[in-house]
Amino acid sequence: MTAEAVQTQQPLLRVRDLKIRIQMDNGVMNAVDGVDFEIRKGKTLGLVGESGCGKSLTSRALLSINPKECETSGTVAYLSSSEPGAAGKPLNLLSLDPNGRQIRSIRGRKIAMIFQEPMTAFSPMYTIGNQITEAILIHRTRNKKEAKKIALEMLSKVGISDQEKRFDQYPHEFSGGMRQRAMISMALSCNPELLIADEPTTALDVTIQAQVLELMKTLQQEFGMAILLVTHDLGIIAEMCDEVAVMYLGKIVEQAPVKEIFHNPKHPYTKGLLRSMPRLGGNKSKRLDSIEGAVPIPVNMPPMCGFYERCKDRMEGICNAQSVPATQISGSHTVRCFLYSDQHGGE
Ligand SMILES: Nc1ncnc2c1ncn2[C@@H]1O[C@H](COP(=O)(O)OP(=O)(O)OP(=O)(O)O)[C@@H](O)[C@H]1O
Ligand SMILES: [Mg+2]
Repeated sequence: MTAEAVQTQQPLLRVRDLKIRIQMDNGVMNAVDGVDFEIRKGKTLGLVGESGCGKSLTSRALLSINPKECETSGTVAYLSSSEPGAAGKPLNLLSLDPNGRQIRSIRGRKIAMIFQEPMTAFSPMYTIGNQITEAILIHRTRNKKEAKKIALEMLSKVGISDQEKRFDQYPHEFSGGMRQRAMISMALSCNPELLIADEPTTALDVTIQAQVLELMKTLQQEFGMAILLVTHDLGIIAEMCDEVAVMYLGKIVEQAPVKEIFHNPKHPYTKGLLRSMPRLGGNKSKRLDSIEGAVPIPVNMPPMCGFYERCKDRMEGICNAQSVPATQISGSHTVRCFLYSDQHGGE
């Protein structure tokens, strides 16, 4: 698909100026600092970045499920055709009461989430079947028999055999890979329009990981859902995504269609991430380059590029003197780096 075609796809979720501030003992942490992105209907957006850059906070903010100390602002416009705000206008999910009826009817039913650790999604007290059926009864049908039928179908779709027996087992009786599959079946049992998958396969071994990703793709094709895929693994991004947002220190530093990110990366951070990516058939004796230095903690950060200390191309007096605006490289490619900004003699 061309970049233009990706761009004209209708957005389902439009995030603007999302900020999450957390009051710490030594100041305010701007953990998410003015994030903008769109997730298009039926497409996959990858959110990639090193540990601690704010991926999970961002993805949980979309459903207002961050803990209380996370002070959140901005807009998360939900442009579903079936869930309009007043008079068909987009609904700002951040304006809803996080414990209210409206957001609860969207969570699970319209926008489902899967987490890195499936145990957080299941209670150890109830059987897997009971918990999946419960979700279906809340969101889809009041008929228990029908709910069970849907649950069994979903378990089979995610490749769990002997579903009747598995239905009555408890989470601890499932292996890690099976729990992950069961969580996916629970998330998908209500045909969500959007699936938020936060590191859905990190805890799994590579074979199961490949199976789970394949399954998500198949189900996406079948149900036409959009996916926000959070990962620190560029291999998974290449495999799964249509578009990519690269996150660093609470900001999106580069955003583009997937091919553009891999073939024409601009931000020194994106380039660094790509250099640290293992390649099939690569020289195994050669050590991978990792990006030097650690991600700083964004407490009381002055307005400057967060990557400054680690960047080989930094320009003193420019990159450490002001915050970095986003520059549009092409219709669908933006980057936050002074190397490409008109004001400072960029390309
Ligand atoms: N409730 C909280 N209180 C204080 N700090 C928090 C809280 N939640 C997250 N943080 C901090 O905010 C930053 C971003 O956290 P987040 O979990 O979003 O990172 P991440 O990109 O998902 O990282 P990972 O790849 O390790 O999952 C981190 O520095 C984290 O320590
Ligand atoms: Mg995380």
